[in-house]
Amino acid sequence: MRHLISPLDFSAEEINQLLDLATDIKENREKYSEVCHGKKLATLFYEPSTRTRLSFEAAMLNLGGSVLGFSSADSSSASKGESVADTIRIISCYADICAMRHPKEGAPLVASLHSGIPVINAGDGGHHHPTQTLTDLLTIRSLKGKLNNLTIGLCGDLKFGRTVHSLINALVRYANISFVLIAPKELALPDYIRENVLVANNIPFREVESMEEVMGELDVLYMTRVQKERFFNEQDYVRLKDVYILDKDKMQNAKEDMIILHPLPRVNEISVEIDKDPRAAYFKQAQFGVYARMALILTLLNIKVDEANAER
Ligand code: NCD
Repeated sequence: MRHLISPLDFSAEEINQLLDLATDIKENREKYSEVCHGKKLATLFYEPSTRTRLSFEAAMLNLGGSVLGFSSADSSSASKGESVADTIRIISCYADICAMRHPKEGAPLVASLHSGIPVINAGDGGHHHPTQTLTDLLTIRSLKGKLNNLTIGLCGDLKFGRTVHSLINALVRYANISFVLIAPKELALPDYIRENVLVANNIPFREVESMEEVMGELDVLYMTRVQKERFFNEQDYVRLKDVYILDKDKMQNAKEDMIILHPLPRVNEISVEIDKDPRAAYFKQAQFGVYARMALILTLLNIKVDEANAER
């Protein structure tokens, strides 16, 4: 049985197969519409979510399966003091696969150690968010036609932003990727990623504070929200929350074919005037998230579309 806890749980080859499958799903929706008939996905969300939870549910429904779950810790027995280990033992009796989001780093990993079903990490604290990474890789590959030879700008809260941590881990496996890390010092990428991932793999990267000075170099600009819920005090958040606001002025030097990504939700960091710019790809990205999650569910349940359709 396999789980997806860290973006490195799949090899580069397996990721490519998964992205191929997601692309086939996007182009042949009908072929996949009943392949998970009789299967259940549980969504165990101890932290707020719109896209991740609902795109998981949409993914399973699109595959002909069904869904159950909870959307906040308050409405689960966690509020009575139940451990993640006990919860997952029970969920293993009710569902075939589960997606878990938790404010504590490592909670989905703990769950996977006690689980009878595949566990997918749908975000653990400021640590990882591997299914957002699959979404991001699929979006970049679909819109840029490749995952190598790219200069990627990551902008905003690189300290607490788990989507950025997972994306860096995944992208360093492709050839000729360089990063421009755009953040104020207080929100800079954690040392353990800078040293253990970027430096250790000899990946070219620069750290800058100004977005304007690097805009013209970027093939992909990945914007992020300042992660309010991870701050220890409100004043620091208020001081940093609007540090980057992408607007038409800042886009002046951007390449014609640069794409703007954002895992969403957006707060102020991308002005709504940018939504009409053909380079704004963040809403498409959310749609790609459904295909990526459909491909992931099939992969972890080891369901092959042709066999499943032949059996029915
Ligand atoms: C992200 C997350 O939860 O980490 N959202 C998402 O899943 N699309 C990004 C964020 O909350 O800022």
